Amino acid sequence: MDKLSIKADLYMGHGALDRLMEWRNKRIFIVTDPFMVKSGMINMVFDRLHESNEQYIFSNIVPDPPVEIVTEGVEALGAFNTDLIIAIGGGSAIDAAKAMKLFAQKLLNQQEIPFVAIPTTSGTGSEVTSFSVISDKQKNIKYPLVSDEMLPQEAILDPELVKSVPDFITADTGMDVLTHAIEAYVSTKANDISDALAEKAIKLVFAYLPRAYKDGGDLEAREKMHNASCIAGMAFNITSLGLNHGIAHVAGAKFKIAHGRMNAMLLPHVIEFNANYKPGYGREESTAAAVRYAEIAKSLGLSAPNPKSGVRSLVQAIKQLQKQLQMPQTLKECGIEKSQLDEMRESIADGALKDGCTATNPRVPKTGDVAEILNKMFQS
Ligand SMILES: NC(=O)c1ccc[n+]([C@@H]2O[C@H](COP(=O)([O-])OP(=O)(O)OC[C@H]3O[C@@H](n4cnc5c(N)ncnc54)[C@H](O)[C@@H]3O)[C@@H](O)[C@H]2O)c1
Ligand SMILES: [Fe+2]
Repeated sequence: MDKLSIKADLYMGHGALDRLMEWRNKRIFIVTDPFMVKSGMINMVFDRLHESNEQYIFSNIVPDPPVEIVTEGVEALGAFNTDLIIAIGGGSAIDAAKAMKLFAQKLLNQQEIPFVAIPTTSGTGSEVTSFSVISDKQKNIKYPLVSDEMLPQEAILDPELVKSVPDFITADTGMDVLTHAIEAYVSTKANDISDALAEKAIKLVFAYLPRAYKDGGDLEAREKMHNASCIAGMAFNITSLGLNHGIAHVAGAKFKIAHGRMNAMLLPHVIEFNANYKPGYGREESTAAAVRYAEIAKSLGLSAPNPKSGVRSLVQAIKQLQKQLQMPQTLKECGIEKSQLDEMRESIADGALKDGCTATNPRVPKTGDVAEILNKMFQS
């Protein structure tokens, strides 16, 4: 028996931020990053909050939030006697707020604090997931935390908030969406509901990410990508992820490469690993994962007369999309030296096998498999 809950109430579309006007008499702890404050975007929240509320703003979130910031936040959250948390920002702000909420409730014995997530990037889907990724910057490790207690009660998806995302972050975060959806589709925990969500998210990414990248002011493309991010989040909240994220968490932390960019570089190689066709063979049995990738290719209208061609078409389409988005496709292009890879290959492989996301990958990887993927990604 499977239990499936889709939790957060969604307020979506143009004007969705007006939902904030309805909160009254709350002590609101706002978690955000310095960009939101400096750019004045945070005023889009303040302007909508009723005067009967009191606010505390915690605005020192950095990308890939470290444990220390979460600890600081837990203390501030408790001291303020918070009865509503609003996180506004990218995945980093939302993930940090989730961890703060979880630990504040546990350590300070606080009762459930209502939580509103307002994403300003279209990438992580964190507003609807039980995941939070926290970093240990000394050890260069990322810890994915998983708990339903972190799930936001509400998510506000207002495309106005993503208009200002620069093109390269639009590309990185958009490829994160694609990776979530593809990993959800081939996950060992995939079911009909997650399939429906993943398939829709994949189609939206291919149709609208190039547009959002080319013209950040294209509100239709922004809205579609914002929805795609949330839909992919719903999908992988059911299925978890796979080896792609398992490697990305470790390699991203070690090489200091943005999460979505690292996922995008890995994606063609992880698909080929999971599909598991031997090079040079003509006819051979297709793995279940290969059949699933070919289904994705078909749904995108790509050539897929048989699973092997379908996998090839999907990989080609992903590489093409990366080129359109002017993204690096190898570690070398990201400025990583061969000697750095040699030094870290084994520890990345070990870490990736231990990462919680790897457990639902359709093919069980060994250390050597991850090392080979890293070699291919260095210079493909
Ligand atoms: N919780 C999950 O399920 C989940 C899933 C995938 C990734 N993650 C984690 O989320 C983090 C990445 O999140 P992200 O990709 O959203 O990036 P991010 O939150 O780290 O933000 C990246 C940069 O974009 C800027 N930014 C954010 N919104 C902007 C806007 N509207 N206009 C201009 N600039 C803006 C930020 O200031 C920051 O400099 C990583 O730590 C990753 O591991 C979490
Ligand atoms: Fe991700």
